[in-house]
Amino acid sequence: MRRDEDVPSIGEASHDPETRHWLTDEPLTEDRQRGSVARAEEMWRRGDSAPFVIADAATDAPLGLLNLQFGGDKEVAELAVSVFPQARGRGVASRALRLGAIWGLRELGLHRVFAETAAENVASVRAIERAGLRREGVLRAHCKTHGRRHNCVIFALVPEDFGEPHGSGFTSSL
Ligand SMILES: CC(C)(COP(=O)(O)OP(=O)(O)OC[C@H]1O[C@@H](n2cnc3c(N)ncnc32)[C@H](O)[C@@H]1OP(=O)(O)O)[C@@H](O)C(=O)NCCC(=O)NCCS
Repeated sequence: MRRDEDVPSIGEASHDPETRHWLTDEPLTEDRQRGSVARAEEMWRRGDSAPFVIADAATDAPLGLLNLQFGGDKEVAELAVSVFPQARGRGVASRALRLGAIWGLRELGLHRVFAETAAENVASVRAIERAGLRREGVLRAHCKTHGRRHNCVIFALVPEDFGEPHGSGFTSSL
């Protein structure tokens, strides 16, 4: 979960040009940094989303953000990831996506976790593939970033991908 000491790194990374290019989120100004931990805790408490900070397993330093956004019936979640610039290119996103997807399916009993990304975002497409999510197809003109519509690729994992019966949540541990 998000802690006060993570907020400066999250704020700094939110100004990164690549992140700003691919995501529409506004940079986390100093003003908005205040209260960001409380906002994340509120989303978690209400069950709207699970906003994780990805931490280095050895040093606990914050490396990026992973979010599971739950659908209305709480059976489906959308995964979104960003990795701070200095931590890119060493498997952080793919590992975090994999862990987040399996946590959602196994621990929360979700029926589907999915991720969408701009077809042109090569790093993101590759990270999602490497996390083991299955490519389902291209959604034409589905995404809109900075006012421009573009094609998205959609990937997902469902319990069936792990041999579970169709339409079920997990009945056994992985
Ligand atoms: C996309 C992003 C999350 C990837 O994070 P990462 O931790 O660097 O990704 P990984 O190290 O897990 O890399 C996974 C794969 O992508 C490849 N990759 C990473 N950066 C890349 C780049 N800039 N161009 C091409 N491939 C790239 C890696 O080589 C690896 O592929 P491989 O398995 O063939 O070796 C990160 O670049 C980022 O935060 N970008 C800005 C925000 C963003 O685009 N978020 C996704 C929005 S949907």
